[in-house]
Amino acid sequence: MRVLVVGGGGREHALVKAVAASPLVTELFCAPGNAGIANDARLIDIRADDVAGLVAWALSNAIHLVVPGPEAALVAGIVDAMEGAAIACIGPDAAASRLEASKSWMKEIADDAGVPTARWRRFDDADEARAWIATTGAPIVVKADGLTGGKGVTVASTEAEALRAVDEALAERVFGSAGSSVVIEEFLDGEEASYHVLVDGTSVLPLATAQDHKRVGDGDTGPNTGGMGCYSPAPLVTPEIEARILDDIIRPTIAAMARCGTPFRGVLYAGLMITSDGPRLLEYNVRFGDPECQVLLARLESDLVPALLSTRDGTLDGVSLGWREDSALTVVMATRGYPGTYPGATPIRRLDEAAGDDGVILHAGTARKNGGWVSAGGRVLGVTACGASLAEARDRAYRIVDRIDWADGFCRRDIGNKGIARQA
Ligand code: AMP
Ligand code: GLY
Repeated sequence: MRVLVVGGGGREHALVKAVAASPLVTELFCAPGNAGIANDARLIDIRADDVAGLVAWALSNAIHLVVPGPEAALVAGIVDAMEGAAIACIGPDAAASRLEASKSWMKEIADDAGVPTARWRRFDDADEARAWIATTGAPIVVKADGLTGGKGVTVASTEAEALRAVDEALAERVFGSAGSSVVIEEFLDGEEASYHVLVDGTSVLPLATAQDHKRVGDGDTGPNTGGMGCYSPAPLVTPEIEARILDDIIRPTIAAMARCGTPFRGVLYAGLMITSDGPRLLEYNVRFGDPECQVLLARLESDLVPALLSTRDGTLDGVSLGWREDSALTVVMATRGYPGTYPGATPIRRLDEAAGDDGVILHAGTARKNGGWVSAGGRVLGVTACGASLAEARDRAYRIVDRIDWADGFCRRDIGNKGIARQA
């Protein structure tokens, strides 16, 4: 089977490695990939959201299977277009991808399905939104309705902050059309967890629990990022909570999507707040999380490819996956300045020998220069290690981090600590 993975971050490096390990796969390509992914797949210089370009290339290169990583490709309709060209493509079509692309649509589905989520209202008029905030007060959460790469959410602790967020989205159009309407919702208090499942339209196959670290600084301080590190399993999600996530949140959502003619196929990632009243849905993503994908696939023992194929073919019922008992933990290394502005092409030394037997370094944004590695992005490396406990996995991962010589890089030093405290 000739396979094309679409995307160029740490998630896609993890996908490429997992796909490459499948005996079903004869040749592997990645578009656009990055310099680190080039060790494991042939790079194709086409952007992940250039659907027409990808389809044309896949057709002329006899690709059998396409595995898109990022939401941009899915929302742009890569599944519709590839399948239209008779190429198998894993993930939701554009209609079902609205679960991530439109927060208000996601909320309507959740309400229709009776899924526990924050109380909400949608506004496209700034005055009405301001008036509503005046009646509810703070804390309150303001979200641009569309895709903003994670930048469109304001968790406002004061009314003034919430009003500012409304003005930015609706009056100043900081997010363009993605912010031409906003969802304003109740603030939920608790600890966050991620839950991933495979779905084939009707059947749901749970993957594993994980916990991300979204803020840039130690102790969950500073601005939100794409994710600075994560671990799996998440001890916060007990078997009882996991059962509620599946029965009260995920299965009813999948049934509601099928009912309204937009069945979901692919990887579904629920962002959850575990409150004192139980799990509440914060958001859905229609793809693997990044870095969550890196810890999940580090723990997966089974062949990923047949499981992905069964999400497309409607044959997920009866599929089971083997998981390592081990915990896995990923530390993300980013360029100083991220998630704000940061320099490019900063030299990274001792990268190839840093992992040793302790784990694996996946590349999220690297390039080659004069025979060495340089940074090429905000999030640059994902350092993943496994261990009998989260503490062991963490110690191994940081050992690798400390061997990497990158003056312009940084990472959080507390990845996993909350889970480790809970495990102890
Ligand atoms: P989202 O992209 O919707 O997951 O929001 C980004 C982040 O904002 C989440 O990971 C949470 O940390 C936070 N957040 C979103 N919605 C809420 C809410 N209703 N209550 C508290 N925090 C929230
Ligand atoms: N780690 C968060 C995300 O992938 O959306």
